Amino acid sequence: MHETSILLFGRNGQLGRALQAALSDIGPVTALGRADADFSRPEQVRSVVQDREPKMIVNAAAFTDVDGAESDKETAHLVNAVAPGVLAEEAERIGAGIVHYSTDYVFDGRAERPYTEAAATDPRTVYGKTKREGERRIQSGAAPFWIFRTSWLYGPTGDNFLRTMLRLGRERDRLQVVDDQFGSPTSTLWLADATRHVIQCVLGSIDMGRTSGIYHSVSRGQTSWYGFAQAIFRVFDVDVEVEPVDTSAFPRPASRPAYSVLDPSKLMRTFGLQPPSWSRQLADIRKPLLEAER
Ligand SMILES: NC(=O)c1ccc[n+]([C@@H]2O[C@H](COP(=O)([O-])OP(=O)(O)OC[C@H]3O[C@@H](n4cnc5c(N)ncnc54)[C@H](OP(=O)(O)O)[C@@H]3O)[C@@H](O)[C@H]2O)c1
Repeated sequence: MHETSILLFGRNGQLGRALQAALSDIGPVTALGRADADFSRPEQVRSVVQDREPKMIVNAAAFTDVDGAESDKETAHLVNAVAPGVLAEEAERIGAGIVHYSTDYVFDGRAERPYTEAAATDPRTVYGKTKREGERRIQSGAAPFWIFRTSWLYGPTGDNFLRTMLRLGRERDRLQVVDDQFGSPTSTLWLADATRHVIQCVLGSIDMGRTSGIYHSVSRGQTSWYGFAQAIFRVFDVDVEVEPVDTSAFPRPASRPAYSVLDPSKLMRTFGLQPPSWSRQLADIRKPLLEAER
């Protein structure tokens, strides 16, 4: 395999870190961060791909500050929409595939049953709109693509709800947590391993583009942030009282979807993957998180 067969962007993000470890099982991975390729300067990103000519581009870089995006639309648009479009153009030119990540925020959050890939998108925030445009730009190119829409992502490192809850739970006696938003907490370790599986399948297939498409890539089952917090404190033996509250208790610049549950059936059918339940994924992260904290 060529030295730069996998070119990974977003190496310092929570998913990027998990991907670096998981994808090294496939072959050499060149992992780049913001200092190597700034997504707010898409032409710089283009020349980085031109220099490396990978077989597969994996993009875990994104403007993920949902509230910050409301007041910095221009940067969110460049990073989440324009730069991924440039990756797709370059992938097409060099005959590579592109793996990209998207979000439950592309939906309006008003559904009552899990969203499939066929459900109409209707993002309500700058973050959601720019992520949807990034999807569209990749979809409209000719390079084979695998867009993994995920939700409520957490891992042993980085900024995420799990780590915030552990910090607050250890500092305080009592916490208020939102109980009227529902989703599927998903572990970066599982998503990175699922990505490895998919890339191995497609690189090994004669017609790499046959499975090109969007895939909802989440744990199975659903809970509220309150339910997730309670489970976190159980799994990590933290003694703190948790009080359920409504979303209105925490006003934010960007609205949050009330219902974010995605249906992973297509991923399961197409690639034979069995996403573990959200509570199983949480239990599985206990050891790596405690090791990362040491
Ligand atoms: N977190 C969630 O709950 C969630 C839910 C659904 C979907 N997703 C999607 O999953 C993917 C991975 O998210 P994550 O949680 O791993 O995010 P993350 O931890 O915030 O990591 C994002 C990475 O993007 C990089 N980045 C930001 N602006 C950049 C720029 N201008 N140029 C180059 N790199 C830049 C950051 O670099 P620095 O390290 O230098 O800041 C960071 O390493 C994203 O596509 C996200 O939209 C996340």
